[in-house]
This record gives sequence, C-alpha cells and structure tokens, in this order.
Amino acid sequence: MFIRRIAVVGTGYVGLTTGACLASLGHRVVCADVDPDKIARLSRGEVDILEPRLAELVAEGLAAGRLSFVLGAKAAVVPADADSAAEIVFLCVPTPMGVGGVADLGSVEAVLAEITDVLAPDTVVVNKSTVPVGTADRTLELLGREDVAVVSNPEFLREGSAVEDFLKPDRIVVGSRSQDAAERVAALYSRLGAPTVLTDAASAELVKYSANCFLAMKLSYVNAMAELCERLGADIGDVTEGMGYDRRIGQSYLKPGPGWGGSCLPKDTRAMLQIADSADFEFRLLRAAIDTNERQRQRIVDKVRQAVTGRRSGTLSHARLGLLGLTFKAHTDDLRDSPALAVAAMLRQDGAELVAYDPALSADTAHPGLESISVVEDPELAAKDVDALVVLTEWPQFRSLDWPRLAELTRQPVVVDTRNLIDPDVLARAGFRWDGLGRG
Ligand code: UDX
Repeated sequence: MFIRRIAVVGTGYVGLTTGACLASLGHRVVCADVDPDKIARLSRGEVDILEPRLAELVAEGLAAGRLSFVLGAKAAVVPADADSAAEIVFLCVPTPMGVGGVADLGSVEAVLAEITDVLAPDTVVVNKSTVPVGTADRTLELLGREDVAVVSNPEFLREGSAVEDFLKPDRIVVGSRSQDAAERVAALYSRLGAPTVLTDAASAELVKYSANCFLAMKLSYVNAMAELCERLGADIGDVTEGMGYDRRIGQSYLKPGPGWGGSCLPKDTRAMLQIADSADFEFRLLRAAIDTNERQRQRIVDKVRQAVTGRRSGTLSHARLGLLGLTFKAHTDDLRDSPALAVAAMLRQDGAELVAYDPALSADTAHPGLESISVVEDPELAAKDVDALVVLTEWPQFRSLDWPRLAELTRQPVVVDTRNLIDPDVLARAGFRWDGLGRG
C-alpha cells in the first residue's frame, strides 16, 4: 500500500474521524480547523466529541507522528515541517442547510479560495461533506486549475459508531471525471476490503442523499405502521421482526420513535427535495416521509397529553413532566435537530414544566431549546413529583433504572415510552401505567 500525504480540512465528526482513521491505516495526515482552541486541544490529544475509540486513535496517531493538527487549511496543505505538500486534500467542512433547504457551500468556497494557489500539481481534492449534485464540477471551476483533480467520496458514518463505520464500511463510493484520481482515492481504503463503486461525480454525490432519504422513508414508514398497529390492535415489534427477516428488507432501521433527527437526515431530505425541485421533479414520496416525521412529534405530544390528562386535546399547564433522554439518539451527546428537543418544545408550549435527565448532558450544558428545561444529573430527580415520565432517547441504561423507586417518586406513575425501550412487564410490576408506540 502507498502511504500518502493527506490534508483534512475541518475537524468535525466527519473530518476528525477521517483524519484519525486514515492515520491509523498508515497515512500521514495533517488536519486543519479555523478554531485555534480546538487545534490546541486536539494537538494535546483532547477530543471533545463523544465517539467510541476516536480519542484512542487520535492519541495513537499523535504518538506515532502520523497525525497532526494545524490552524488553517493552507497550513495543512503545505505543512511547515514537511518536505512535500499534500497529495490528497479532503474537504470535511460543514454544509449547513441554507435558505429554502439548499446546502450552504460558503465554507467549501472559502477553503478553496484559500488553498488553490498552494496546491501542488496532480493534487486530488476530495469532497467528503454531503454536497449538492454538481459540486465536484463547481469545485473544479472555483479552483481554476487544470492540473488538479476533484473527486466526490461521500462519507456514510453514523454518530456514535463513526470509527467502526469508517474502518468497516459497507461500501466505498468514489466519483470523478478523472479515473486516475478516483483510483488514487479508492486505494487509500484498499486495506478495508470493502466493495468499491467507482463512478462519475454526480452519481457519487447522489448516492449519499439517496441512501439517507431512503433511510428516512424507511423510518417514516415504520412510524406510520406503528400508528396503524395501535388502531388495529397489532404489535409493531412483531410486525417489524416479521418483515425484517425478509433479506430484501433487513432488521435494521425498523424501530419506531419520536421521529428521525440528527445533523444529517433532516438536512439531507430537505436538500433532496430542492435537488428534485431544481430538476423539475416532484418527489412526492419523499415529501410524504418528511410530513409523516413532523406529524410524529405532534402524535407523541398527544400521547403524553392523553396519558397525563386522559384527553388527547387541551392544555398541559400544571403538569410536570420528567424527560428521559434529550440527545437525538443514544451514544452521542449531539442535540442538533433532536426529535426529543422538538417534542420538549411542544410540551413546553402546551404549558408543561419540564425536567430532564440524559446521561450525556450535565446541568450546565448549553444548547438552544435547553433554556426552558431543567436538566438534572440523576434520573431520580427527573422522576420527582412528575405527572409522567417520557422516554425520548433509547439509552440502554434506562432499562435498568430502579423503576419501583422511580414510581414512588412520581406524582402519578405514568410512563410514555416513545422508543419502546423499557420492558412493559418491568413497568407494570413497578406500578406504572404505560404507553408506547404501536403496541395495540
Ligand atoms: C445518518 C446515517 O445513518 C449515516 O449513514 C449518515 O452518514 C449520517 O446520517 P446519524 O445522523 O448519525 O447517521 O444517525 P442515525 O443512526 O442514522 O439515526 C438517525 C435518526 O433516526 C435518529 O433520530 C434515530 O433515533 C432515528 N432512528 C434510527 C429511529 O428512530 N429508528 C431506527 O430504527 C433507527
């Protein structure tokens, strides 16, 4: 295997994981960010993202001298202490949702303007961020360099298992107009032994959107089926298990919940609608999946209201609710676009007083939406004097809480489990009245 000199621009989830993992595969990697404090912390091996094995790989890379952190993209492309410039430059900067759901490429453009003059001939610039179809061509235009190639290499990692997903990928997708550049990027991953799709840039860019939108549709389908199960007296767990044994469907991504969220699915589904719109295609199937997801939050609020007041409409004023979990899923401290926070905001709007416990958060965690929630660091404090406990994130440790003790602490022993996480028998034995999703 060739050992390559690689620059990674951006040290968020995707950038830091890419940098640390490529270094662990033997490459020499310099990662850049615009935040000097972050660079100082990372250079000392301090990783502030909660991600299994990431800190370990960063420490190993630093100790082996294969991984370093610098301020600014230019310094990563032409490191002061290296004898040659980067051969491959990964762009892993944020592409937030801009006006009307179009991905905002401001950070990508700023980086390109900074590095174009210092790229060595034959450098390959790789887009790893999720970018609109056509960005590879636009990147080439912005670079204005005939001797540099651009490759699209979407990243499929999930938060909470980013390192595992990177090192054991289901597939590698690489797209470019330059076959040689695409093969050079694919070769970086050759040790991983994953199926590799070599294609044109537009197809590679579309794979990421297409996969995430498909997953979102799968989840909206399951949440809709859960509602139908309730009406028909069926059990969603048994229905999805029965469906999932069909190898064409598979068991994963079939759990109902308070709706899908996080930093990717909501953003990518909206962006895909825009992409379709600009191609004059009305993507009704996807639109319905997004609508179902919005409705899911209201459905959870209605369930809580029903459980607390006995009515599906009306107000929740005077109700005190204990929320278990606020992150968008378990094993992460990420609150971006968390369905739990969206549900919390709606409950608050209906007049409820909210207290919440999440194993990844502390009383002084700051995030938009947390101001109106009292975050406590002990689940018993979240149960004290509440009219209902609402399970919003599927943290496995919630299963083994002392449920009889929690029941004693509540004002009325009611649980609304939006993840079908807790064994109903455990709840019943502890004295709780219980509601979940799709358990007719
Ligand atoms: C997702 C994609 O999975 C990943 O491939 C892509 O690179 C980035 O976006 P991530 O945002 O980390 O990853 O979250 P994911 O694990 O996919 O979960 C997304 C949402 O779906 C969460 O809100 C989660 O709670 C929900 N979900 C997931 C369910 O409600 N039920 C399930 O069965 C699975």
